[in-house]
Amino acid sequence: MPYKLLFVCLGNICRSPSAENIMNHLIDQANLSDRIVCDSAGTSSYHIGSSPDRRMTQAANQRGIKMAGKARQFKRDDFEQFDLILAMDQDNYENILYLDPSGKYRQKVKLMCDFCHQHTLKEVPDPYYGGPEGFNQVIDLLLDSCGGLLEFIIQEQGLETAVKN
Ligand code: 4NP
Repeated sequence: MPYKLLFVCLGNICRSPSAENIMNHLIDQANLSDRIVCDSAGTSSYHIGSSPDRRMTQAANQRGIKMAGKARQFKRDDFEQFDLILAMDQDNYENILYLDPSGKYRQKVKLMCDFCHQHTLKEVPDPYYGGPEGFNQVIDLLLDSCGGLLEFIIQEQGLETAVKN
């Protein structure tokens, strides 16, 4: 069984699809695509079925990351289906845990920025109502935190890596 990651933000059209696609890019480079799989979701229902925001896609493409996926809403069943659930900000974190009143899955839910090595920000800021620099910042933070997250999973799961030529 592959290790399953779920990235979560508010709308599932900016931050969490970027995290999913960046992580898939790094997993592919490490030749671990059959060992670690990714998905993403939003805490809201605002954009269900939508493709990633075109400003986000543009920022990602400029960094060599392709964007795929359609927005869906986080659901209680995700607690069972995924090994690790990564919230982009504190609101996302709290909205996820609100659906787990008994605290059974609390240990599966982490803040994405906890895996950053270079950046000191504690949240991936919501870029939706801001300018283009916000989308670039999302990519910067996620490249850092996805790299740290991959290292963490490789160690914790004892995975062998082989970098592709
Ligand atoms: P995301 O960004 O949570 O990173 O996907 C947002 C997308 C849409 C909205 C807010 C944030 N919205 O209010 O519609």
